[in-house]
Amino acid sequence: MTTASVNPPPRLLMGPGPITADPRVLRAMSAQLVGQYDPAMTSYMNETMELYRHVFRTSNEQTLLVDGTSRAGIEAALVSLLEPGDRVLVPVFGRFGHLLAEIGERCGAEVHTIETPWGTVFTPEQVEEAVLAVRPKVLAVVHGDTATTMCQPLDDLGEICRRHDVLLYCDATATLGGNRFETDGWDVDVASAGLQKCLGGPSGSAPITIGSRAVRVIEGRRHVEAGIAESGDVGRGVRIASNYLDLAQIIDYWGPRRLNHHTEATTMLYGARECARLLVDEGVDVAVERHRLHGAAMLAGVQGLGLQVFGDVAHKMHNVVAVHIPDGVDGDRTRAGLLTDFGIEIGTSFGPLHGKVWRIGTMGHNARKDAVLVTLAALEQVLRAAGVPVTAGAGVGAAQEVYA
Ligand SMILES: Cc1ncc(COP(=O)(O)O)c(C=O)c1O
Repeated sequence: MTTASVNPPPRLLMGPGPITADPRVLRAMSAQLVGQYDPAMTSYMNETMELYRHVFRTSNEQTLLVDGTSRAGIEAALVSLLEPGDRVLVPVFGRFGHLLAEIGERCGAEVHTIETPWGTVFTPEQVEEAVLAVRPKVLAVVHGDTATTMCQPLDDLGEICRRHDVLLYCDATATLGGNRFETDGWDVDVASAGLQKCLGGPSGSAPITIGSRAVRVIEGRRHVEAGIAESGDVGRGVRIASNYLDLAQIIDYWGPRRLNHHTEATTMLYGARECARLLVDEGVDVAVERHRLHGAAMLAGVQGLGLQVFGDVAHKMHNVVAVHIPDGVDGDRTRAGLLTDFGIEIGTSFGPLHGKVWRIGTMGHNARKDAVLVTLAALEQVLRAAGVPVTAGAGVGAAQEVYA
């Protein structure tokens, strides 16, 4: 059998993520491997921890990478915090809230949810009322739900959790680096993310930060693997149900003891480190402002094309907008036209929104003026081909006004 080498077609990924990776991240990922305990490698690990402290805006010592896509970070957090029978409260405002609830169930936790219609977010009062009714150990909340584009304000939730002695876990996969996220400022106990959105890398590594209250809970469940445990390593508490995602062991691996756990995914670490290095070099606030600007230009552009924006725009993430697919337009066919004729990918959504909205992202490496304008110009063409009456140049023109 003969197969050609990998040579993907040129694409501009303007969907909800993954996005076109920053070439500098890909270059870092082509570097040669070193051994797991090589001093060069352990320095890269320490630097990665420090860089992500800046990205997450935290002084948490335990800021590291979980190997795997974003959901590996989510599962690591929840399986390490939740014992069977523990109560977890999940405010659901889109697909990824359902994911948190499902993972909580798989941990054997007693899962309680509150729901708000897709396209809206919760008020702090709604969340506090549920916290009082459920008295959970953990409040698990998505920051930006990519399925709906909504961004749940978190600034009051940490304080509510502290007051009621609840741990706050946040899924910042879709928002980190492109929207304000203050781990320490908002009293978030654990937050995790992925690289493939605003961080401008490929999926496959999940940065996570764990505050001292959560570390205490995790350390209280520490069981070192039999084959490597030493005399002082006496198991404590209820053992974490996953070995691979056991944050107690992962913390030991990243810490000064360097206790062997998994074989670190070196190439992903190079990529994750470069994503954070680029962000810190740019300035986290500057990167957030860049996402705000290009997100605003894309929003104006799609409105200029006459498309109806989905959801509560005041609570939209900077980096993605959802628009209703116009009546009579075949959404998938139009997206396919955009891909084949222009090399541009946009997304549809999930569940109740599948086939009803398109989601257009401006994130990471693609939060750029040229990417926004080219996407709007191409969208105008495919809309016209689908029979939608569009004023020539209306999308690009509206975006240009934002840039003026
Ligand atoms: C908010 C959110 N959480 C979790 C995930 C799951 O991430 P992954 O596919 O990297 O496991 C995604 C993916 O789009 C997401 O947007």
